[in-house]
Amino acid sequence: MDILCVLILFPALCRAIEVRVPDLPVTGILDEDVILPCWFNPPADFSVQDLSLFWKLTSLQQVHAFTLGQEQLENQEQNFINRTQLFLSKLPEGNMSLVLRKVRLSDEGTYTCFVNVGNFSSAAVSLQVAASFTKPVLHLEPSEGLKPGDQVTVTCHTYRGYPEAEILWQDGKGQNLTENITTSQVANEEGLFHVQSSVHVILETSDTYTCLVYNPALQVVTHASLSVTGQHLAFPLVALWVTVGLCVCLLGLLVALGCVCRKHLKQTCEEEQEREEAAMQPLKASSAEGEDTSSLE
Ligand SMILES: *[C@@H]1O[C@H](CO)[C@@H](O)[C@H](O)[C@H]1NC(C)=O
Ligand SMILES: *[C@@H]1O[C@H](CO)[C@@H](O)[C@H](O)[C@H]1NC(C)=O
Ligand SMILES: *[C@@H]1O[C@H](CO)[C@@H](O)[C@H](O)[C@H]1NC(C)=O
Ligand SMILES: *[C@@H]1O[C@H](CO)[C@@H](O)[C@H](O)[C@H]1NC(C)=O
Repeated sequence: MDILCVLILFPALCRAIEVRVPDLPVTGILDEDVILPCWFNPPADFSVQDLSLFWKLTSLQQVHAFTLGQEQLENQEQNFINRTQLFLSKLPEGNMSLVLRKVRLSDEGTYTCFVNVGNFSSAAVSLQVAASFTKPVLHLEPSEGLKPGDQVTVTCHTYRGYPEAEILWQDGKGQNLTENITTSQVANEEGLFHVQSSVHVILETSDTYTCLVYNPALQVVTHASLSVTGQHLAFPLVALWVTVGLCVCLLGLLVALGCVCRKHLKQTCEEEQEREEAAMQPLKASSAEGEDTSSLE
């Protein structure tokens, strides 16, 4: 192209700098490093000494600068101090990508890379910050004494994600549930979202409910399922066996107690009888004596 320029003597076109950035937003993971890519086509006789480049956030905040052959960081915005870095060895190739360390939510925005090598140009790239949600946790309310026909609420919680999630509920057959769903997303003091989504369903037979949490920036789905099976229904089988077992034990105990009692009772009766008999004899004797005495009187 340079040869072509010289040949046709069209300097304006020759000096035009083309600056390229990704079309799609760059996703930076919270607390991790991210590269903001930016590239220009260096002129043939290009020297890094002649290069001026600036990275700015929303055209105002100075993120990084390089002029007169070195980095110029005096006017750098407070937020970016010690967090930015150019690939200095790649500058001669026109690679002015910027590393941003330990990404924060406040970094989200549009970054513009300005370049001046005799001619001036710029391009903007968006940074989307993302944080993955925790694995969802499901709760069933009420969770006991359920029988078919009861209305239950299945609630899904997931924490500390960014940006807001898209929540989808599915039944055991993989069908989307669309009715009776309420979802709330609340940002904590750090700006990360706590998602709570509930689906109200009428229990029929056993079923499985799946909560899918989609993070649009990460394009990642996390999910969790809850099975409302016979164990949760009317009278849990385990509880039935436990109850039967307890009844049998109780019955056995009663029978044993009865036997012991009867034996004990019998024994006491016999003893009582013996004692009575024993007590009767002296009485008999004394009464005989009495009779005797009375007869004597
Ligand atoms: C940046 O790094 C230097 C050297 O490690 C340190 O002295 C300074 O306090 C840091 N500044 C900020 C704002 O973190
Ligand atoms: C610029 O250099 C960095 C570091 O080597 C690399 O990751 C990136 O892909 C380069 N960008 C371009 C547009 O060549
Ligand atoms: C469920 O809904 C999602 C999003 O609305 C859609 O992409 C998907 O195809 C649906 N799946 C079924 C089985 O209907
Ligand atoms: C939604 O709730 C209403 C009222 O509780 C109920 O009549 C309806 O069947 C529910 N829809 C589904 C799909 O469960």
